[in-house]
Parts: sequence; C-alpha cells; structure tokens
Amino acid sequence: MAITRQQAHEILLKYMQGENYIQHSYAVEAIMKGLAKKLAPDQVEYWGICGLLHDLDEEQCDWQHDMSVHGPTSVEILKKEGIEDPVLFDAIKAHNPKCGMKAKTTLQYALLAADPMSGFVKAVAQIYPDKKLASVKTKSILKRFNELRFAAGANRDYMESIEFTGISLEEFAQIAKDSMLEIADELGL
Ligand SMILES: [Fe+2]
Repeated sequence: MAITRQQAHEILLKYMQGENYIQHSYAVEAIMKGLAKKLAPDQVEYWGICGLLHDLDEEQCDWQHDMSVHGPTSVEILKKEGIEDPVLFDAIKAHNPKCGMKAKTTLQYALLAADPMSGFVKAVAQIYPDKKLASVKTKSILKRFNELRFAAGANRDYMESIEFTGISLEEFAQIAKDSMLEIADELGL
C-alpha cells in the first residue's frame, strides 16, 4: 500500500519523540520537496515523505554501536505498520551507505545529500547573532562547506552527491536554505 503524508506523519510521531530528531525530519522533508520541484515535479509530496521518514528508527535501534542497523530497522517498522513501498524502503536504506546499500537513483542521491545538508544549514544559521535562517546567504553555506573543521560531522561527500542528480552544490545549498526557510518557525530557526 502506498503511504500518505498524514499516515507518514502519524507513524513518525509514534516512533520518534526527540524534538531535535523531529525537527530534523521536517527539515529533510522540506529539502526533499524543494529538490523534487526541480527533479520530479509530479512527486513532490512523495519525495517529502521519504525525507520525513528517513530517520524513523533513530530512537528504535542501537545505531550508536552498530551503524548497519540504521535504515533496515526503519523498513521493518514501516512493514509492521502495513506499508509496502520498495521505492521508499530503498531510499531509506541508501541514505545510510553503512547499512550496505549504495545510492543509485536520483531520489536516493537526493536523500543521501539532503540529510547532512539540513544539519549543515542549521549549523551555519547558528553562527549568526540572531541564529536565524533568514540571515543565512547561500554564499556563506558554500564558504563554510570548504572549511572542513566547521560542522565536521556533516558529510561533505554525501552532500556533494547531489551532483549525480544534475543539480550543482551551489543550487542545492540555495534550495535547502529556501526550503527550510519556509518552515523556519517549526524548525525553531
Ligand atoms: Fe537524518
């Protein structure tokens, strides 16, 4: 059965309590929708759902000790909830190459890139005195991107994999910032 946004949101809130994780899920959803407008205009909501659910298992598995369970556990949860959607499942798994699946499709590359980019844009916003996303310029995101010690946990290789979709890193940074800005209140940014 295909999944609706409302259903995806209910499942998310059933399995995820941490505010930071939930905000991160919303941020990745927003970026995925922004990317879909360009890459898959008839699948904007669906790409958003893939973003919304990509970390569903964050509080449900011991990924701190074994990164390979992050992704497959989300798929198990969704199956338990009656969802059967191989495209969604593969996108969730491929966003964590450490679970053994490599991104191949445009959707998979977009999600792999959107995940770290959401945290990166947030980190850039937090260096401004007002800590507001509205203060962030695309140029600043790109400048910080090349400072490898800045937000060192944000995987540059994953973010750069956006180029496999035909979108440049610069355009990606712009799309990510603009998309997150649309829900800045929800993100507390
Ligand atoms: Fe994530």
